[in-house]
Formats: sequence, C-alpha cells, structure tokens
Amino acid sequence: MSKIKAAITGVHAWVPDYILTNDELATMVDTSDEWITTRTGIKARRILKGEGKGTSHMGAEAVKGLLKKTNTHPDEVDLLICATVTPDMQFPATANIIADKAGIKYAFHFDINAACSGQIYALTTAAMYIQSGMYKKVIMVGADKMSSIADYTDRTTCVIFGDAAGAIMLEPTTEDIGIIDSIHQSDGAGRVHLHQKAGGSVKPASHATVDAREHYIYQEGQAVFRFAVSRMADVSVEMMKKHNIEPEDLAWFVPHQANNRIIEATARRMGIEKKQVMINIQRFGNTTSATIPLCLWEWEDKLMKGDNIILAAFGGGFTWGAIYLKWAYNGKNHR
Ligand code: ACO
Repeated sequence: MSKIKAAITGVHAWVPDYILTNDELATMVDTSDEWITTRTGIKARRILKGEGKGTSHMGAEAVKGLLKKTNTHPDEVDLLICATVTPDMQFPATANIIADKAGIKYAFHFDINAACSGQIYALTTAAMYIQSGMYKKVIMVGADKMSSIADYTDRTTCVIFGDAAGAIMLEPTTEDIGIIDSIHQSDGAGRVHLHQKAGGSVKPASHATVDAREHYIYQEGQAVFRFAVSRMADVSVEMMKKHNIEPEDLAWFVPHQANNRIIEATARRMGIEKKQVMINIQRFGNTTSATIPLCLWEWEDKLMKGDNIILAAFGGGFTWGAIYLKWAYNGKNHR
C-alpha cells in the first residue's frame, strides 16, 4: 500500500484594511522611510483596528475563506491548529475561538507557540495527523496581531511588525506530492534576545509591569539577526542536500518574512535566484505566524502541481526549521 502523505489542498489569507506606511511611522517615532527600507525592506504593514478585534478575528476570516474556496463544510474539519504569539487571551486557545467563529463544531483545536516558526511547526504537526491516517481534513492557521504587542514608542521594534492571518488545508494523498520532509530545531538559550518580559507566570501583569512597558516585544535586533541568518540558511541548505535538490530544481523558496536582508542572505547560501523566492515583506512587514501562508496565498496562481518548494522560518525561542514539499494542485484552478 502507498504511504499516506499530507497534501496542501488550499490556502487563504486575510489582512486588515488599514495600511501603516513608513511615513506615518516617522510621525510616531524617530525613524525614516529610508532607514526602514534599507535595513528591513519594509514599506508598509497592515494594522487591525477596531474595539474587541483580536487575532481570532483575522484567523476566522482566513479559515472561512479557506472553507469556501475548498468547498469544505465546517462539519468535515477534524482538527484546527493555530500558530500564534498574540492569542486573544491567555486561555482558552485562540484555535478554539477561531473554530467557533468559523462554525467548526466536530473537531478539536489547539495553539502552538513557537514565535515566527510556529507556522512551520504547526504545519508539520498538522501533516502528522494526516500521515498517520487519523484524520482527513486538518487546518493550520497562522495568525498574529503583532500591533497588540509592538511598542509604538520603540523605533527598533515597532517598524518591523504587521497584522495578518493565513490558513492552510491539509488532506491525505497517496500520490508523489505533499509534505515530504521537515527539519525543526529549537534553542531555549536564545530566549534572552527575544521575548515579552511580563504577563506570564514569572512576572504576572501589574501596574509596575505596565509602567515599565514590559508587555511589549523585547528584541536585541543584531543578535537575533545573526542567529536568523545562519540558522535559516543552514537548515534550508541541509534540506536541499538531504533530498539532492539542485538550485534549479527548486520552483519556490518561501522564507519567513522577517527582514529582506535575512531572506537575501539565505537565498545566496542556497544558490538560488531572486525570482525563485517569494517576498512580500515590503507590503506586509513581519506578520510572525502568518508570513508563509500569506506568501503561498499571494503566489497561488503561479503554483503548479509537482512544484518543489522549501519553506523556512526562524523566530523567538529560538526556533527554526524548514519543510520540503511538492505542491499538490495547479493554483490557477483554485481561485
Ligand atoms: N529608525 C532609525 N534608526 C533606527 C531604527 C529605526 N526604526 N531602529 C534602530 N535604529 C538605530 C539604532 O538605534 C542604532 O543607532 P545607534 O547606532 O545610534 O545606536 C542604529 O539604528 C543601528 O541599530 P541596529 O539594531 O544595529 O540595526 P540593524 O541593522 O541590526 O537593524 C533590525 C535592526 C531591523 C531589528 C535587525 O537587527 C533585524 O532584522 N533583526 C532580526 C529580526 C528578526 O529576524 N526577528 C525574528 C523574528 S521575530 C519573532 O520571532 C517574534
């Protein structure tokens, strides 16, 4: 009997309407369009506005769109996994809330927190439930309202992040397509360079933590940059070597969109050309758990059945990894 693989059978994303440009940011903190563009590649990012709207709002919109375009009734969904670092609340899991808003009743749901790598950790986890033969329809959602933890008085972090959600449907196949391999790693020692200081069990929220602005992203940019470049490149090259993928065999490289310089350095190490790399950081910034589904959604029209694709991410933790997959459908037919 052929081995069951997990194939991506649909992808959808949702971004808020509000566009926060570099010029508008320059009215809020001491920065400039020139600095942000040169150092990060970012020109604009989307921001979710509106009282009472959190990560689940965006995640549910992405999932509802995904259900519609894949002709899936909510009752058919077996499992929904949400990758996020900005849950609606500490508990319950945002996956539960997204599923409820999308009308998914006969499934179980949980969150994965691996910062920017959460999206690939969640995709691999979702794939395992399919590959085991346990489930037929699993949804992975990557969603983050980064504007809720970005400090708009700190120019070193607030210029980087944006809000978005993306959702991916996984189903079984016995064809030679789908998710072929995953390599994931973590190093908890990296937490000192990138974390949120308060609001957890070590330092619960208090007047003092709010006054000290400890509920925002704390990042030592240069240290994170160095690790991100080396780890993302190492793991992507390792994946190519492991599967004898020559640069010209790769249809697409889909990197986490953290910084255009990290993306370019990784692509150089892989020996691939810019035209093989999905890059939309200029319009959306770093949307943490949503960057890879957002790219796949934007490029869906161009994707062909059998395309060799490598996804790679690096994030807080530290966490990093890569997934090698063969695309499962001609994207044009799916709009
Ligand atoms: N505008 C103008 N000047 C700025 C800004 C800004 N927005 N931000 C920083 N600067 C200044 C600094 O204050 C510093 O000034 P100084 O020399 O007078 O002290 C100077 O620019 C250089 O600062 P660096 O931190 O060295 O700038 P760098 O080139 O490293 O860029 C950045 C900073 C964009 C954050 C970069 O380090 C980076 O991309 N790091 C990795 C981010 C990442 O991958 N994160 C992981 C994923 S996120 C997650 O998991 C949640």
